[in-house]
Amino acid sequence: MSLWADRVLPGLVEKACRSTTILAERRRWIPRAHGEVLELGVGSGLNLAFYDAARVARVTGIDPAGALLARARPRAEAAPVPVALVAAPAEALPFADRAFDSAVITYSLCSVDEPARALAEVRRVLRPGGELILVEHGLAPPADAGTRRWQRWLTPLWRRAGGGCRLARDMTAILRAAGYDVDALTSGYTEGARWLSYTTQGVARPA
Ligand SMILES: C[S@@+](CC[C@H](N)C(=O)[O-])C[C@H]1O[C@@H](n2cnc3c(N)ncnc32)[C@H](O)[C@@H]1O
Repeated sequence: MSLWADRVLPGLVEKACRSTTILAERRRWIPRAHGEVLELGVGSGLNLAFYDAARVARVTGIDPAGALLARARPRAEAAPVPVALVAAPAEALPFADRAFDSAVITYSLCSVDEPARALAEVRRVLRPGGELILVEHGLAPPADAGTRRWQRWLTPLWRRAGGGCRLARDMTAILRAAGYDVDALTSGYTEGARWLSYTTQGVARPA
């Protein structure tokens, strides 16, 4: 057991993920999910309160971090929809093909070790017509070369301290390369430090 990973980091991650801006993004996007929903990197369950009981049959939340899943449990019990929490990585989902109508990723694709594999798994488990709802921070645009340099320079340290979070992933490019239609995604800076706040959000569908 690591004191940092199991005791300190979960509280810090949760605090960072509860800013007013991030809560507004959750409130905006999470109610779009419908039917059988898979949430990848569910963490401490901060999205669970925002699912729409009229649209969602069940949320299955996966995450490899037991300490974060433990924090998610009370939120799962209080959620307006049935929730199942499963310890698993996004790169190897323990679910049948075409089992879900919606997939949700918020601030987690930065942390998975193999995003291409994770997105291939999402494609596999989504039904035809299914959608991926995404809110994710990542690499600043080419015009902001200074911020990009910072992001690349900081990543090795940030990744070690921040539970695997990479600052310099081009989220739109990763999704496009994984075969998703990214036309409905938008990107821009939200509040706070530029190296952490360039955010891509919206709905991506397997093309
Ligand atoms: C910054 S937290 C975000 C948690 C949550 N999605 C939210 O919006 O509050 C990043 C999450 O990604 C999870 N994660 C890291 N590697 C993962 C993987 N391979 N598969 C799924 N989740 C992963 C972490 O355990 C953590 O819960």
